[in-house]
Amino acid sequence: MKHPRKLVFICTGSDCKKSGCKQLTKVLKEELCSAPFKGQFKFVKTKCLDMCKSAPVTIIGDHFFKKATVEKMKEYIKKP
Ligand code: FES
Repeated sequence: MKHPRKLVFICTGSDCKKSGCKQLTKVLKEELCSAPFKGQFKFVKTKCLDMCKSAPVTIIGDHFFKKATVEKMKEYIKKP
C-alpha cells in the first residue's frame, strides 16, 4: 500500500542532535508544510540510523541525505 504522503525520516540520535537535527527539522517543517508542498510530506523522527559520521542524516523515500541541509533536500524534492 502506498502512503499518500512522502515520508521524511529524520535521525534524532545523539550525533545528529549535536549536528543540528532539531534546527534542520524546524526549518524543514516550515518549508515543507507551506505552499507548494503543503500536505505532501509526513515527518518521522528515528533513532540512530548508524551513519553518525555523516550527521545529520535524513531520508526521503529511498534517498539518504548525508550531512543533510534544507537546500539539498529541497533540490531533491524539486527533481521530477
Ligand atoms: S545519530 Fe544520527 S545516524 Fe547516528
